[in-house]
Parts: sequence; C-alpha cells; structure tokens
Amino acid sequence: MTPDVQVSLGKLHLRNPVMVAAGTFGYGLEYRDWVDLAQLGAVVTKSLTLAPRMGNPPPRVAETPAGMLNAIGLQNDGVDAFLVETLPRLRETGATVIASVAGETVDEYVQVAAKLARAGGVAALELNLSCPNQARGGMEFGVQPDLTAQVVAAVRQTTDLPLIAKLSPNAGDITPSAQAAVDAGADIVCLINTLLGVAVDPSTRQFRLASKVGGLSGPAIKPIAQYHLWRVRHALPDTPLIGVGGISSVEDAIEFILLGAHAIQVGTANYVQPTLATEIVQGLRDYLTAHGFESVGAIRGVVG
Ligand SMILES: Cc1cc2nc3c(=O)[nH]c(=O)nc-3n(C[C@H](O)[C@H](O)[C@H](O)COP(=O)(O)O)c2cc1C
Repeated sequence: MTPDVQVSLGKLHLRNPVMVAAGTFGYGLEYRDWVDLAQLGAVVTKSLTLAPRMGNPPPRVAETPAGMLNAIGLQNDGVDAFLVETLPRLRETGATVIASVAGETVDEYVQVAAKLARAGGVAALELNLSCPNQARGGMEFGVQPDLTAQVVAAVRQTTDLPLIAKLSPNAGDITPSAQAAVDAGADIVCLINTLLGVAVDPSTRQFRLASKVGGLSGPAIKPIAQYHLWRVRHALPDTPLIGVGGISSVEDAIEFILLGAHAIQVGTANYVQPTLATEIVQGLRDYLTAHGFESVGAIRGVVG
C-alpha cells in the first residue's frame, strides 16, 4: 500500500509536507522546466514587499565551510507585479503557492497581506518576521515578542487565510515570540530563518559581503534549527510547525518530522540540487513503506 503523505496544518491542507523555502527558489517559475512544481507540498515565494526592491549591493552571497552567508536584502518585484505577472503563471503549473510577506513597518506587512488576500490564488501567507524594523533602529520584528504580536495581529485582521509566522533564531530563545505569534492569531509557526554572521577575506582584508553582516544558512545550522523546533514543539504542543534549516537529504527531512515538524522546507540545498525537494517527497514515501508506516503522521514527533 502506498503510504499517505498528505498533511493538514490546521486549515492548510497540503498534498505532502515538503516545500521550498522563501528566497531560495525564486518565485518557483524559474524552475518549472526542471521541477514539476505540482509535486511539491507548496512553493513559498521569495518575500514580497509593497514596492519593488533592488536588494543590497554585491557581493551579497559568500560561501562558508558548511553553508552560505547571504545579504540579498529582500530583492523582489513588489507585490503588485507578483500578482499581475507571476502568480497567474505559477498557478498554471498546478503549484500550491504560499506567499511570503515582508515589510519595514507593521503597515507595510498589512498592505502587502491585504493585496494578496484580496487577489486570491494563494493557499497561505508566511510572514517573514526577520525583517529589520525601521521604527526600532533596524531590530528584527521576530526577536521581540511584542513586535511579533503587533505584526501578526494586524495582518490577522485583514485575512482569513492560514497565517504562518516565520521566526528568527537571533533572539536566542524563540519560544516567547512563537507564543506571542500564536496568541496574536498565527495558525502555524515556521522556524528557523538564517543566523546572523560575518565573513572576512584575508586576501583583500575586507568583509566578504558588501553589507558586512549576513544570514547563515545550510548544513551548519541544521542542529540549531532542530533544537528550536524541539523546544517550540514542547512549548506549543497544539501548534502545527514547519521546520527549516540545513535540510539537504531525505534523512534530514525525516529527522525534522521525527522531532515534531508537520512540514519541512528545503532552502540552501536548492542551489546545489534544484530537484531535491521532489526527491525528498519520494524518499519519504519509500521510508514509510520500508518501515511499515501507513502515513507520515505516524512518525511525526516520535522523537521527543
Ligand atoms: C539566498 C537566500 C535568500 C533568502 N531569502 C529569504 C526570503 O526572502 N524570505 C525569508 O523568509 N527567508 C529567506 N531566506 C531564508 C530561508 O528561507 C531559510 O529560512 C534559511 O535559509 C534556512 O534554511 P536552509 O538552511 O535550508 O537554507 C533566504 C535564504 C537564502 C540562503
């Protein structure tokens, strides 16, 4: 018997638990010639802002021993262009689309979310709470529980779509922000975004990134992502969680599910192997069959 890999995260129903992470797969469309997007649980778009953004000056990516450091700076075409030019074509592929929402102010998050909700065609909104908050000197929204709550509560008022709060690990303890997000109306918590870091080039005696500081991702952060997932899962046992950070193989994805993730996202590994997420879907089925499980739900959270 083929095992059942469908998952429900509250009212968000997905054909399987494997997504591509925001910002690491473009808008999804760029990959449609190589990857059947309809086979993924969902495509999470790069984060969308109200106006188009050029992002940070180059160099804005640096390789690290077990991952990469990036400071893309939310380059995107803006939510209006996404709705007119990209979303209809993305929908034609059969993909389930989750739109990532970013902002420098609470009002920007609300306006972007409201446009997406009004237009229809997206299955959920993922709030990228790692954006720097203009009103607090650039501090990330997600590291402060009160700011997390403000953004989530304000967006909650604009839409009934499933709301995912994507949190930053840069606070140290994610649990208070996760709790604040859920109390303010988030349906799902996604963790983690990148960890702050710098990289130096001894040959030029310069920082490797033009903006000096970037976000670390890739295999180096997998144990940290798993730690936060495990902690939040115990703090919020009734909240569906999405695990992301360093997933580079079928086994990595299964580890996150064993630790309690309802779904997972593949990020940096897409740059190495764009077909990895679809291969994880099949690998998950094979694992469940080989071990005699009827559904992915049967292995969720068994390590705890
Ligand atoms: C180049 C790059 C761009 C990213 N852009 C976004 C983004 O636009 N929005 C967002 O929420 N996360 C963004 N992220 C973070 C990823 O979605 C993910 O949370 C993080 O990289 C950890 O997963 P990974 O180790 O599998 O890459 C980006 C990561 C990378 C490497």
